[in-house]
Amino acid sequence: MTDSQLPPRDEDGATTGPYPEDDDRPVEYETVQTPVLVVGAGAAGARTAISLAEAGHEPLVIGKRDHGDAHTTWAAGGINAALGSLDPEDDWTIHAADTLDEGHFINDPTAVELTTQEMPDRIRELDEWGMGLDRTEDGKVNQRYFGAQSFRRTCFVGDRTGEAMLEALVSKAQGLSIPYRENVMITRLLSDGAAVHGAVGYEMESGEFVLFEADHVVLAAGGYSALYNRHSSRDDENNGDGSVLALEAGASLMDTEFVQFHPTGMVEARYGEEWAGRLVTEAVRGEGGRLYNASGERFMERYSPDQMELDARDVVARAIAREIREGRGTENGGVYLDISHRDDQYVKDRLPKMYERFADLGVDITEEAMEVAPTAHYSMGGVDIDFETGETGIEGLYAVGETVAGVHGANRLGGNSLAETVAIGKLVGEHVAEQVDADGELPATARALAEREFRSLERLGGAGGTERPQELLDDLGDVLWEQAGILRDESSLRTGLRELEALRERTTDLRIEGDRTGRDFEFAIDLSFSLTLAEALLRSALKREESRGAHYRTDYPDVDPDWRRNILVDAGDTGLTLRTRGVPDPSEPVQEAVEEGYELDYHHLE
Ligand code: FUM
Repeated sequence: MTDSQLPPRDEDGATTGPYPEDDDRPVEYETVQTPVLVVGAGAAGARTAISLAEAGHEPLVIGKRDHGDAHTTWAAGGINAALGSLDPEDDWTIHAADTLDEGHFINDPTAVELTTQEMPDRIRELDEWGMGLDRTEDGKVNQRYFGAQSFRRTCFVGDRTGEAMLEALVSKAQGLSIPYRENVMITRLLSDGAAVHGAVGYEMESGEFVLFEADHVVLAAGGYSALYNRHSSRDDENNGDGSVLALEAGASLMDTEFVQFHPTGMVEARYGEEWAGRLVTEAVRGEGGRLYNASGERFMERYSPDQMELDARDVVARAIAREIREGRGTENGGVYLDISHRDDQYVKDRLPKMYERFADLGVDITEEAMEVAPTAHYSMGGVDIDFETGETGIEGLYAVGETVAGVHGANRLGGNSLAETVAIGKLVGEHVAEQVDADGELPATARALAEREFRSLERLGGAGGTERPQELLDDLGDVLWEQAGILRDESSLRTGLRELEALRERTTDLRIEGDRTGRDFEFAIDLSFSLTLAEALLRSALKREESRGAHYRTDYPDVDPDWRRNILVDAGDTGLTLRTRGVPDPSEPVQEAVEEGYELDYHHLE
């Protein structure tokens, strides 16, 4: 195996294509000054910006898509908060204990405790901001079961929770007149390795370059689960840009080997390519949905007789994968998920989007089962931050949301991703607000770096080779699915690294059709981020010689207590370097809740 490499960069760190390096032509770009740049306009970015605005600052929020069209809108089933609406014995310590248990105790306990303590207030706040949460008959915020949670803790708006939440956040942000700029892609942070001075990118609709001068940059740019060819995200998001921007700026990544495979994605052979891997929300199982194999056997009785379909996502996903692998799946390569035993109107009320989506595909889910199989859904890994502040170790650079690692450990509890965005987003926004002072001058070195980046992007735009970026991304998706998927071992991971090197070779012959407003150009940039992230993932997965949560090594099938450690990845001078760090213990009240051993008993629901 050759040494690892970051994507092509010149000696000053600017992105390069396979082109001569003697280019010093003047380059045109727009300059924007802002005290705080928030990169990413989903729930985490929006909540961070709201804290900043409430403290009297005017952050600029930028997003790759239209305003209000962030990936948060795809989160379906709910958001966790220990309100105890239906189960009064629930409290934040038990929520924390469930989160640690599901994360197999490599979560950052501070991150977990801050999130779970914050959440009841954050839900009340979202409710005040007009999220429209479903209520119980006596007017409390309603809560449903989700996998591996001891109590009904998941608040919801039917099965469009993320959409309703982002609408509430965007409307609050608009009320505070927070400026927003849409269709902007960031390609590089202006960092000298010690401090950040802004970011550069381009307007995706005009192709024009933009330099954002900012002494404070918050990355809220999502995760990397779309690197896999079967995933629940949109294809052009969650491709690792947030994490790799931070890595290249000098921050560390953590836990990149942990990717969550959601048990129930839609099956392509049954529903068509457009729907491949799209989420069938866990709320279906939370509302009583049952899994059957092709012989009609309720197979979770064999894998998890106590928690059945509501066991942890990794357990249910591996069970489904095994049924399919061992020939007990449907002819379309899935298993059945059935909610038809519940009252028709109940299904329509609780799962309106699922009902409509499948009805459009000719399937009435009140009458017949859906076909599902696991799909890459969420990245537990990401930027290593201090959760009290969002700081990354690079002055002025912060990160929040799925871009960071720590809350979820080895596997995420369903309903905790939306929770993290608002709980930690609020705290990080408040901290950054305290750091903002008079704007500094952009250092000349940072401007020079920006201009080199623009020139290299210009050269990339003219690439006239043979390899289309979309094809390389598809091939990368196959490599990860095959070699670092639900099951992995040393041999598959080494094969994955070799195949990754071959893909890197092919990037020296890129072909970009169209101009900078075209998809080829965008995908070429995604590709550079994705290759780096994939290397971090494969190498970390190879290093972790145990199975824990979503990382299952068939050659090391057990949890190894000595591996209760995080793996950190840094961008060294000659390539990525890996190191490990031990995990602190939780606070006493949370430790007590862990020892109490709370657990959902599925059968008392039936
Ligand atoms: O299945 C779902 O609705 C997903 C929720 C989550 O990942 O938190």
